[in-house]
Amino acid sequence: MISKFTIQKINDEARVEDVVGEFVTLKKRGANLLGLCPFHNEKTPSFNVNPARNIYKCFGCGKAGGPLQFLIDYQQLSYPDALKYLAKKYNIEIEEENITDEEKQKELEKHNLVESIQIANAAAQKFYTDYMLNNESGRIGLAYFKERGFLMHTIEKFQLGFAPDGFDGFTKHALNEGFQLEVLKKAGLTSSKENSTADFFRNRVMFPIHNMTGKVVGFGGRIMVKDEKSPKYVNTAESEVYLKSKLLYGAWFAKNEIRKKDECLLVEGYTDVVSLHQSGIENAVASSGTSLTPDQIRLIKRITPNITMLYDGDAAGIKAALRGTDLILEEGMNVRIVVLPDAEDPDSYVKKVGSDAFAEFIKNNRKDLILFKTSLFAAEAKNDPIKKSELIRDIIDSIGKIPDSIHRSVYVKECSQLFEMDEQILITEVNKLRRKKANDEQTTIQKQDAQQAKDSKQDQLPDSFHQQQFNEANSNLHVLERDIIRILIEFGSWKVDEEAEANTVAAYMLDDLEGIEIETLRFKPVYDLIKREFLQGNVHDEKFFTANDDEQVTNLAIELLTQPYSLSDNWWEKYKIVIPDKKSVFIKDIQSACIRLKQFRNITELKKIEQRIKEAKDETELIKLMKLHKLLIEQKKEFARTVGNVIYRPTT
Ligand code: GTP
Ligand code: MN
Repeated sequence: MISKFTIQKINDEARVEDVVGEFVTLKKRGANLLGLCPFHNEKTPSFNVNPARNIYKCFGCGKAGGPLQFLIDYQQLSYPDALKYLAKKYNIEIEEENITDEEKQKELEKHNLVESIQIANAAAQKFYTDYMLNNESGRIGLAYFKERGFLMHTIEKFQLGFAPDGFDGFTKHALNEGFQLEVLKKAGLTSSKENSTADFFRNRVMFPIHNMTGKVVGFGGRIMVKDEKSPKYVNTAESEVYLKSKLLYGAWFAKNEIRKKDECLLVEGYTDVVSLHQSGIENAVASSGTSLTPDQIRLIKRITPNITMLYDGDAAGIKAALRGTDLILEEGMNVRIVVLPDAEDPDSYVKKVGSDAFAEFIKNNRKDLILFKTSLFAAEAKNDPIKKSELIRDIIDSIGKIPDSIHRSVYVKECSQLFEMDEQILITEVNKLRRKKANDEQTTIQKQDAQQAKDSKQDQLPDSFHQQQFNEANSNLHVLERDIIRILIEFGSWKVDEEAEANTVAAYMLDDLEGIEIETLRFKPVYDLIKREFLQGNVHDEKFFTANDDEQVTNLAIELLTQPYSLSDNWWEKYKIVIPDKKSVFIKDIQSACIRLKQFRNITELKKIEQRIKEAKDETELIKLMKLHKLLIEQKKEFARTVGNVIYRPTT
C-alpha cells in the first residue's frame, strides 16, 4: 500500500493544470483556464480549470475533481495507478506503508497475490507470443493469423500468441522462471488433476484480454481447426483479476477512439475487434459472446453515452441478443443496432468491403434499439392479436425505462405509427408504468426520511398539511446548511483575528453553532468530519476536502466551491478582496450564516410547539409547552435584533 505520507505529497505537488493540460487544450480565462470538456461532446468550452483550487469542473456535464480524479475518470486508471502516474510525473518517491498488524498483512497478501497473478499473466502472454514467433512448432499459430488477414503490427499490438500443443510446456517454463505453482493455478494458466499439472491452454491461438490499465488479466484461446468435440474458444476462469462481467475485449485499445468518436461499437467476437481495429475502426469492443452486463455498460458509459451494437445477419441470434438490452436503456444510454448483411460478421464484412464502405454501412443502417425491436417483431405479430399485445407491453416496458421524457415521447410517437394505434393510449400506459416506478422509489425515500427524522430525535412527524411546509422548510434548510458547510470548507482555516492564533473561522462557527446538528444527509458527514478533526486540534484548508480520501467528501467540496453563493451578491469578488480592513464584512457574513440557520431552527421549533399546544390534552403538558414557547419567542426576538446588526441578503 502506498503510504499516507506519499499520497499527501502527491496531492500537494500535483497541479491540475499540468495534468489536465496533457490531454486538453486550455486557454487562459482570467484566473482560470478554459477548454473543451473531454467528458462530453461540446462546441463551446465549458470545462473550467481552477489552478488556485487545484480542481476542474465542467459546467456542461458536471464532471469535477482534482488531478487524481482526472486520471481516474479520463485515463480510466485505478486509484493506485493514478497515484503512481503522478509520482512518476513529479519525481516523487513512493513509500510503501509499514506492515504492522494482521489486517495489513492480509491486505498485502491479497495485493501480492493479485500482483503475482498479473505478473504471471504478463509472462504467459510473452511466452505465447515468443513461442509463436520464434519456435518452429509455434509457426502454425502465426500462419493461422496471417491466413485470417491479420498484419504483423496488429498481431504485435494485440499481443496475440500461440499455446503449444504439448502437455505442460508453459507450466514447466514458468516454474523454471521461478513462478509458484499456486499462482499459476490461481491465474488459470495451469490446471491440476490429482497429482499432475498441465497447461490450461493447449494448441490454441491466444488472445490476451487487457483490463482498463492495459494489463493482461486473462486469455481467450481459439481452436484452429473445427472440432466437434472441443469448444471453439476456451477462456480464463474467473479469478481475483479476471472478472469477466467487468471486462470488455479491446476496451484498452479502443477507449481513446470511443471518446473521440463519442460512440462505442459493440461486436460479438475477438476477431471482429481485431479486424475492425486493423481497418482503422478503432472504437470497437466485444463482450465476448454474452449479453452486456451492468458493469460493462457502466464502463462504456464513463466514456460515451452512445452504443452501436453490430449483429451478424441471422434473425435467431438477434432476438436472443436483444434480451438484456433494456438494462442499457435504463442507464440512459442511446442504443442503436446494425444488422450486417446475410452471413457476414464484422470481421468478414470489413475485409470484404473495406473500412470506408463499412463505416458508411453502419451510418446508413443503424436503427434505434426500440424502433428496431418494434419493427422486427411487428411484422410477425401483425395478424396475431395476442402476440401483438404482448409485444406492445414489451415495448412499453422498454420505453418506460428511458429516464429522459423527451426521448420517451419521441418513441411513443413512432411506435404508435408503427402499430397504427392511438398515441394517447401508449402515453397513458407508459405513464402508468413510470408512476409505479416513481411510487416504488418514493416509498424508499419516505422510509429514509422517517429514519432521518427518528435519528434527529424529532418526536413527531408532521401530518400531511405540515408535510408540505416541512418540505419547503427543508429545502430552505438545505440552502442554509449548504452555506455553513461551504464557509467551513473554504474559510475554516482562516484567522478571525490576527492576534489570537487559534481563533479560526472554524473555531468561531463550531462554537457559535454548538448544539446544532446538520440535518441534510449529504452535508452531515462533512460537518461531523470537521467537528471531529477540530476536537483533535486540526483545522484544515480547502485542499484537505477537495483531495480527500473519501470520494464523497471530495465531490461535495468541489460542488460547493464551484457553486454560486447564496449568501450575498458578488461573494466571489468579495472574498478575493478580503484584506484586513474589510475583514469585518467577512466576519459579518459568517455570523449571518450562523444566525440564519439558528433562526430557521428556532422558527421550525416554534411552529412545532404551537401545533402541540393546540393538540395538548392535559394542563401540565400545556404549561410545559407554554414555557418552552416563551423561551423560543425570546430567542426569536434576540435573533431578530442580532440580524438587524448584520448585513445580509435573504436567501431566494
Ligand atoms: P472466428 O470464428 O474466428 O471469427 O471467431 P469469433 O471471435 O468471431 O467467434 P464467433 O463469432 O463464433 O463467436 C463470438 C464470440 O463468442 C467469440 O469471440 C467468443 O468470445 C465467444 N465464443 C464463441 N464460441 C465459443 C466457445 O465455444 N466457448 C466460449 N467460451 N466462447 C465462445
Ligand atoms: Mn468471426
